[in-house]
Amino acid sequence: MAKRPLILAVDVGTTKVSALVGEARPDGELVVLGVAATPVVGMRRGLVFEVERVALAIRDAVNRANSMAGTELSHAAVAVNGDHLTLTAGQARLGLKTGTVRKEDMAQVMKRAAHGRLDPEREVVEVLSHGLAVDGFRGVSDPVGMIARELEMDVWVVSGVSTVLRNLRRVLTMAGVTPVMWVPAPRASADGVLSEDEKKVGVVHLDVGGGTTGVTVYRAGQMQYLGVIPIGGESITSDLSVGLGVVSTQAERLKLEYAAVGSEREGTVEVRAVSGQSVKLIPVKELEDIVSARVDEWTQFVEQHLSRVEWAKGPGAGVVMTGGGSLLKGLGSYLEQRWGWPVRLGVPIGLGGLSDLSRSPGYAVVVGVARNGRQAALDVPTESWVRRLIQFWLNLWN
Ligand SMILES: Nc1ncnc2c1ncn2[C@@H]1O[C@H](COP(=O)(O)OP(=O)(O)OP(=O)(O)O)[C@@H](O)[C@H]1O
Ligand SMILES: [Mg+2]
Repeated sequence: MAKRPLILAVDVGTTKVSALVGEARPDGELVVLGVAATPVVGMRRGLVFEVERVALAIRDAVNRANSMAGTELSHAAVAVNGDHLTLTAGQARLGLKTGTVRKEDMAQVMKRAAHGRLDPEREVVEVLSHGLAVDGFRGVSDPVGMIARELEMDVWVVSGVSTVLRNLRRVLTMAGVTPVMWVPAPRASADGVLSEDEKKVGVVHLDVGGGTTGVTVYRAGQMQYLGVIPIGGESITSDLSVGLGVVSTQAERLKLEYAAVGSEREGTVEVRAVSGQSVKLIPVKELEDIVSARVDEWTQFVEQHLSRVEWAKGPGAGVVMTGGGSLLKGLGSYLEQRWGWPVRLGVPIGLGGLSDLSRSPGYAVVVGVARNGRQAALDVPTESWVRRLIQFWLNLWN
C-alpha cells in the first residue's frame, strides 16, 4: 500500500509557534490531523533571539500536533519570516544537449536562474518560476519530453540572510525537527487563504503578525511582489505600555478589549498603574490616539511596499488580511477608506479533518506551509514539473 502523504508544517512566529500535521489528498484538500500553537518568548520581529526558549516552544507545539494526529513526524516544511527576506528576479538559458527537455534540464535552468546574482551572505529560501520559453515559445506549462534546442526561464528568488536561517535551523534541530523545506511566511499565508480566482484578478495580501507584516501581491495568477515590514501588533502594545504607563500585559489587554482605529469614542478605561496598586483612569481618546499614530505609520510602510508594484489598476479582489494583528478593530474599514479597495479577513481554505481548529487568520501561515509541503510529499501521484523541481531543491538540502 502506498505511504500516506503526511506533512508536518511549522511556523515559528514572533508570539507563537504553530505546528500542523496534515494529510495531502490528491484533489488538493489538506486534511488536518493535528494542530497546536504554543506561546513563545525569545523571538523578535520574526527572528530567533533566545535559542533555548524558542526550541522549547517548537518542541511543545510539534509534540502536541503529532500526538493529536497519532504520528511522530520530525521532518518538516518550515516558514521563514523577517525583513531580511528579499525578492529578486533571475533569468537563465540552457542549451539542450540531448535535443529533448528532461526534468534535469528544468532543474538545471532553474538553479542557474536562481544563483545568478546572489550575495555571498544570503541563501536561497525559495525559487518560483514565472515564465518559461522553449526555443523562444512562451506559455508552455509542462515541457518535459518536448523536442527542443533551448530552455529559458524567468524566476523570482526569495532569499534570506544565511545567519538568520542557520539560527532557525539550529532551534529546530534542538527541538528534534529537521527542516526539509523553507517557505517564506508571507507567501505561505497567502497560499493558506487566497483562492486561485483572487490571485488571477489581482489581490494584495497582508499577514499582520506580532512582530512583522508580510506583504504579497498576486496578479494574473502569480506572485508579483513579496516583502516584510518589521512592525506588527506588538508595536501597538509597547506604544500603549510606554504611552499610558502600564505594564505590557495590561497594555495587551487594553489593546484587545478597547483599541479601535477611527472609532472616535469617548469615556475612560480603568487600569492599575505600573508602580503600586493605584488605579488610573485613561481617556479612551488618549488610547486611540496612540493606536492610530502607530497604525498610520504602519500603513505608510505598507504603502511604500505597494508603490514598488506597477499598477495598471488596483487589485480586483482587493486586500485580504491574516495574522492576529489583522483583528484590530476598525483596521479593515480604515484601510478601505484610505485606499478605496475592499478589505476582508482571510481564513484558511481547502481544509478537511480538524479544520475548525485551524480556521482562524492566525493559522494561515502554517496551513500555507503544509499546502506547499504537500507538493514535496514524495508519493503525491499527479506530479507536475513544478513538484519535481521542488523535490530537486529538497534533494540539494539533504
Ligand atoms: N483581537 C485582536 N485585536 C488586536 N490584535 C490582536 C487580536 N488578537 C491577536 N492580536 C495581536 O496579534 C499579534 C499576534 O499575531 P500572530 O499570531 O499572527 O503573530 P505571530 O505569527 O506570532 O508573529 P509574526 O508573524 O510577526 O512573526 C499579537 O500582537 C496580538 O496582540
Ligand atoms: Mg506569523
